[in-house]
Amino acid sequence: MPGSELRGKVALVTGGTRGIGKAIAEALAGRGCTVVVSARRRPRQRLAARLHFYECDVRDAVSIEALFSALRARFRRLDVLVNNSGVSHPLAEVQALAPEQWDSVIATNLTGLFRVTRAALPLMPRHSTIINNLSIAATRGFEGQAAYCASKHGALGFTRVLREEVRARGIRVLAVLPGATNTAIWDQFWPEAPRNSMLHARTVARVVLDAVLLPPNSVVEEITLMPAKGTL
Ligand SMILES: NC(=O)c1ccc[n+]([C@@H]2O[C@H](COP(=O)([O-])OP(=O)(O)OC[C@H]3O[C@@H](n4cnc5c(N)ncnc54)[C@H](OP(=O)(O)O)[C@@H]3O)[C@@H](O)[C@H]2O)c1
Repeated sequence: MPGSELRGKVALVTGGTRGIGKAIAEALAGRGCTVVVSARRRPRQRLAARLHFYECDVRDAVSIEALFSALRARFRRLDVLVNNSGVSHPLAEVQALAPEQWDSVIATNLTGLFRVTRAALPLMPRHSTIINNLSIAATRGFEGQAAYCASKHGALGFTRVLREEVRARGIRVLAVLPGATNTAIWDQFWPEAPRNSMLHARTVARVVLDAVLLPPNSVVEEITLMPAKGTL
């Protein structure tokens, strides 16, 4: 039945409370998937049907273990993992970039992604899918964004190794590299950025959903999705 292709499946979307993660979570739930959304803060608004919130800070190993112990007890499996939690940082050239800022961005965007994936793999059956939401900053350099670009470049390398490691287990691994998308993350480094030509989070979600719904013997390995106008 259309609209229920993912019924009986369970997904985890880290950072699924707003922005791109929320749009992906809602797209999966719209096809019947049960979706756990995690983040540091509970969203203020009510969650859509089939969405369940769990608190988790991906920088914190104990917090990740607590999330997965709850997931194991309640759902027992994970068919879709969307590593989406991410932060940027105020624009700063390397000599002015605070080491604490560097540590926090790497801990979230790179080490957090590794830790969550490591915890998730034992729950993932054959024909499950891992989606790492990276950025065009995974392949390009943007001045003032050294920690962000380094974290995303590292996460792309991690994703490529992971894809080969789990291929034989029938787990598909997709890297999504969106360009500028209209979300709150821009407030962290360029609040006045022109938003009109940016991608909508729902557009990124549509691409991710299409990739998840492909037959299990096919995988979209990497997608770069840009605003038609190009970079800002
Ligand atoms: N917007 C863009 O232009 C763009 C382009 C390419 C890629 N991306 C990537 O897309 C992903 C989502 O970003 P977004 O644009 O949707 O930004 P966003 O609206 O700021 O959402 C970020 C999400 O990550 C969560 N998060 C942040 N730090 C976390 C932590 N330590 N532990 C757990 N969750 C954490 C946030 O919730 P809490 O703050 O409550 O924890 C929130 O749910 C990021 O990885 C970003 O790098 C964004």
